[in-house]
Formats: sequence, C-alpha cells, structure tokens
Amino acid sequence: MSGNIESVLNETRTFPPNEAFTKQAAISSWAQYESMYKESIQDPEKFWGDVAGQLHWFKKWDRVRNWDNPPFAKWFEGGKTNLAYNCLDKHLNTWRRNKAAIIWEGEPVGERRTLTYLELHRQVCKFANVLKSRGIQSGDSVAIYMPMVPELTIAMLACARIGAVHSIIFGGFSAPALVDRIHDASTKMVITADGGYRRGAVVRLKDTVDEALKNCPTVKSCVVVKRCNIDVGMTEGRDFWYADQMHKAHAHCPAVELDSEHPLFVLYTSGSTGKPKGILHTTGGYMVGTYLTTKYVFDIKEDDTYWCTADIGWVTGHSYVTYGPLNTGATVLMYEGAPNFPESDRFWKIIERYKVSIFYTAPTAIRAFMKWGDEHPKKHDLSSLRLLGSVGEPINPEAWMWYHEMIGGKRCPIVDTWWQTETGSIMITPIPGVTPTKPGSATFPFFGVEPAIVNDKGEELANGQGGFLVIKQPWPSMLRTLFGADDRYKEVYWERFAKQGWYLAGDGAVRDKDGYIWILGRIDDVLNVSGHRLSTMEVESALVAHAAVVESAVVGFKHEVKGEGIAAFVILGKGQDKGHGTAEALKLHVRNMIGAIAVPDQIHFTDALPKTRSGKIMRRLLRDVANGVDTKGDMTTLEDLTVLAKLRSDEE
Ligand code: WT7
Repeated sequence: MSGNIESVLNETRTFPPNEAFTKQAAISSWAQYESMYKESIQDPEKFWGDVAGQLHWFKKWDRVRNWDNPPFAKWFEGGKTNLAYNCLDKHLNTWRRNKAAIIWEGEPVGERRTLTYLELHRQVCKFANVLKSRGIQSGDSVAIYMPMVPELTIAMLACARIGAVHSIIFGGFSAPALVDRIHDASTKMVITADGGYRRGAVVRLKDTVDEALKNCPTVKSCVVVKRCNIDVGMTEGRDFWYADQMHKAHAHCPAVELDSEHPLFVLYTSGSTGKPKGILHTTGGYMVGTYLTTKYVFDIKEDDTYWCTADIGWVTGHSYVTYGPLNTGATVLMYEGAPNFPESDRFWKIIERYKVSIFYTAPTAIRAFMKWGDEHPKKHDLSSLRLLGSVGEPINPEAWMWYHEMIGGKRCPIVDTWWQTETGSIMITPIPGVTPTKPGSATFPFFGVEPAIVNDKGEELANGQGGFLVIKQPWPSMLRTLFGADDRYKEVYWERFAKQGWYLAGDGAVRDKDGYIWILGRIDDVLNVSGHRLSTMEVESALVAHAAVVESAVVGFKHEVKGEGIAAFVILGKGQDKGHGTAEALKLHVRNMIGAIAVPDQIHFTDALPKTRSGKIMRRLLRDVANGVDTKGDMTTLEDLTVLAKLRSDEE
C-alpha cells in the first residue's frame, strides 16, 4: 500500500476523567503530563536516567542511551541489575514482605492460593537452584510451556534470577509449533505441567511436549509440574517432577548481577513470511519501560488489587502480569481458566470476591461478554473497580461504551493501550486521571514515545489522513533484534524508513482533528484473531500440509467476537472430494498443526486463486469475498479476471 488509508471514523463522544480519580492519581493534570512528555522527548537521557534511578542497580550505568549503531540500541550500558531482584528482593526489606504478591484462582471452583512476596521469593530461589542443578547457566535458553499457575511465574522469575533466557510458548500451541520455537532458540530445557484446565477439560500439555521432544536434540531435561494428577509418560534421565526437585533444593540463591543488555527473554510472534519471529528483549531497558508504564498507565497504588487477564504466554502477560506489577510491589490477581466456566459470570465473580480495583483485558473478551448478556455482570458487585484497560486490537466504540457503562459503572477511566510484542511496553495510551478519552482511540503517546503518521515517502500526514504508524526515537523497552536474525530485524522494522531511522510498527493509524491517535489495524496480511497475531502463511502452510490440499490462501474477515475470523480458500488435489467431511478434516488438521486459535471459520473450495502476474496471491480480493462486499480499487494486476467472478458465483 502507498501509506494512505481511508479513514472512516466519526466518533464524537468524549469522556473527561472523573474528578475523584484525578485527585488521587500519580499524574493529576494535563500540564504535568505535557511537561513530563516534553522533557522525555527533548532530553531522553535525563528523563530515563531519573526513572532508572528509582530502581535497584548493583552498579550504575555509564551511559543511558546508545544509538550510535542504529537500529541496534543499548540502554543503561555499563549498568548491572537483575529484574527478579527488583520484583522480589527489593520488597523484602519493606513492609511489603508479607503483602500478597500473587492471588491465584484455579479454574476448578474453590481452588485458590496466595503467595506473599517473601514466599514467592523463596520459591523462585529454590527453583533457580533447580535450574542450576540441571545444568542451566546464564545465557541458556529455557522453554516454558505451562498453564496459568503460579509455577509459571516462579519459573520465569527463576530464569531471570540466574540470567537464563526464557522462551514462553503459549499452552494452546501444538507440537510442531513447539519444535520450531525450540529449534530456533536452541533450547536446553523445557518446563511444563502434566496438563492444565480449560473450560472444564484437561489440556494434556506433557503429551504435546513428548511429541515435540522426539525432534528436539538440544533439549536435555524437562521439569514437570503436577497440576491435574493425570498419568503422563516420564522419560528416565530427561524428565523430572517439579515437586521432587523443589523438595531437594536450597532456598538460598543470590540474584546474578547482569549487564543491562543481558538477554531477558525471547518471545515468538508471527510474521507475514511464516517463520515465527523471535522477539528479543534485554534486561535494563525492558525493566524500566514496564515499570514506568505500570506506575502511570495503571496508576498502581499499594492497596490495589490488579488483574490483567492475559495469558503469560503472550507479551501482555510478560509485561503486565509479571514484570511491571511485581516491580512496583503490587498485588496481582492471576486466574487459570476460561471466562465462561462454569458459568459466563466467572470474571465478575472473581472481581467481586477479591475486590479487584484495576482490570485489564482485550476487546475480543469484551465482545464475548456483550454477547453472553448483561445479566452476568449485573449479578455482581463491581464497585471495587476504579480503572479499566484494553489491549490487543482496536476496541470498537460500542464495545468501549458497554465496558464503560456495564463494567466501569461510568466512573472508571478506560486506558486503551496500544503496543506490541516488539515494543515491550505500552506506547500510546490515555493517562487515566488526565486524558479525556474517546471510545476507540488510544489517544496520545506515553513518555519517550515519538509517534508519527506518514505516507510511504515518509511525509507526515495531516490530521484526518491515515497512514503508516512510525516511532521516531528509540525507547528503553524496544526489541533489540530478532533472535539470530539481525538482517530480518532490519528488514522488517527499519528498512522502509531507513533514511529517516524510524521504526515501522506495521499498523495503520490516523490522528483526528483534535490530534487523538486512532489505530486502524495491520497494514500487512497478518491476521488478528482474538487479539493475537497469526500469519496467513502459517495457516496456509498447515492447510497445504494436508494430503488433500494443493494450494490455499487465508484472509481475515470481520468476526463479531474474535475481531477477525479466518477464511481459507482451498484448492484440492485431483480426485479429492470437497464433501464427506473434508472441511471438518482440514479444520482438525490446522488445530493439530498450529492450535485451536488458527482454525479457519470459513473454508471455501475453489479451482483457482486470484494472483498477480508474478504469482502472488491477491489477498485483498479474497478478503472482499470473505466479507461479502463488492471489490473496489485496482484490479489491473489480477492475472485472470474470471477467477474472481468464479469465486463470487460460488458464494451464491
Ligand atoms: C498488534 C500487536 C500488545 C499486546 C497484545 C498484542 C494490535 C495492540 C492495540 C490497541 C489497536 C492494537 C496492533 C499491534 N494492537 N493493542 N490498543 N488498539 N490495536 O501484541 O501480538 O504483538 O500485537 O496488536 O495491530 O501492532 P502483539
């Protein structure tokens, strides 16, 4: 695309922050936000140096920011710190030592645990010793494939404590997806559980790991948490029970003094070319970015009960279930299971029971709640809530209004936070006590973030004109590279505006007449299903891997609940039958290859796909077919016009 996006927005409602909130907020006036923002952009070294100074360093940095060799940034060079130390040890000499760090609720009704900071610290130290006893050293890659249980948080903090680099793989991924990620990072150990609970059923995680490990020679050991008490295979010499190991482990394990640029984690996210991208984050800058955003965007106070519903398998769970809130000494609520188990009011029940005050979730969940009906939230006392958040995709204004009225009782500010796995922390967001919000707008940049909306020539567009969202300055929690793929890192994020040295976010955006930023969605073909990015290519590759399929193209279409649903256009091999359950078989196949999240909602069988002369599939045209709308715009590059006509007539 040229960079210009047609903007169709016409939202005019504005909601000023409520006075009571503003009075107690960490940032309590627009002037304060403006002057802090100005300093952060004009003198980033001073600004971020002051912020870093609020955290614990074993040795102070020599230089705040090094952008001498773009796009490879270094922050707090020469400094030594440890993020697990900041999340745990730092609090132990304060009254917080016996404050609840994690309040956990399992999916099976009635199961709950509370870990204080002191207890969490103890468990993390022990598990760090388990890692060491199994030969894990600073810099080694450790994969974590677990349900949402406290042992997941313990495992990631234990890695951070000794400088091992975690690679958390969402528990919904299948064995081939695990294999890809384990290979890419040369992972030495896998931490998993026998299973996890999801909507009343047991997800057999260890079986999937066993399947994957048949093809992963770098993995020397596997630690297994007993969660569901199911029978699983344990390979002698490779597999160990978590409880047995912890029982033997010492509770003393000093946090390693790590370089600020020591790798903290790799997290894989889909790219448009199929192979997942290993987003690499390092210690100091990520620590500072997640800390400051948690402090100001969520306005966290000592007595808050904070709940971010994201799975730790996604970046939101890394930054805003674990590292950000624990660094600020908050009480984090963690829930294992589905929002509609055993009933559709589970989330509201949890909020009422624990008096949750800050609630951060995704538009896809909000749309599901709306569909399930108002009676569920109405049954519960949600008056403890004081702040709501949204992340993952653009929130449509109706969903925003429902969230505001039904959940927030019209009194809670909503922070619609735009960011990415790559950015590490929140980039564009309202400041809750200060920014008047508009339903569907992420509003204004956070400190140190200098966004622009530009066309393909890099010219800044006027308000009202949509274009590429770029970031003009490096920021502390930015990704450092793609793991083992510096060239791809440069190409994906920095090549398009290499001359200017800007980061290409890959999203379209527009500023309205008041300067508010509205995110318009991805500019490439990546699907955003339930707030998660999936590449069309990965789904297509999975389909083509089925014996009956010769070619396929996958596009997104508007889906009421998931944001985007997946439509697959499939060409079958000769002699293959499109009846007799073939569509169901293909869906099952994708589920096995990638996971439930990638299963197509629509399957269209066809004899040909619209392609350019150079052989590229024109997904834009397929998107129109899947959405049931007429095709406008340029079709001159289409190789064979009859293909499109044929596809449409098949729909009738
Ligand atoms: C992409 C990043 C960031 C954590 C969750 C997803 C979309 C994210 C918003 C928002 C509009 C949003 C963008 C972005 N996105 N937040 N508030 N408004 N769009 O992380 O998987 O790396 O996806 O999600 O398209 O680029 P991710």
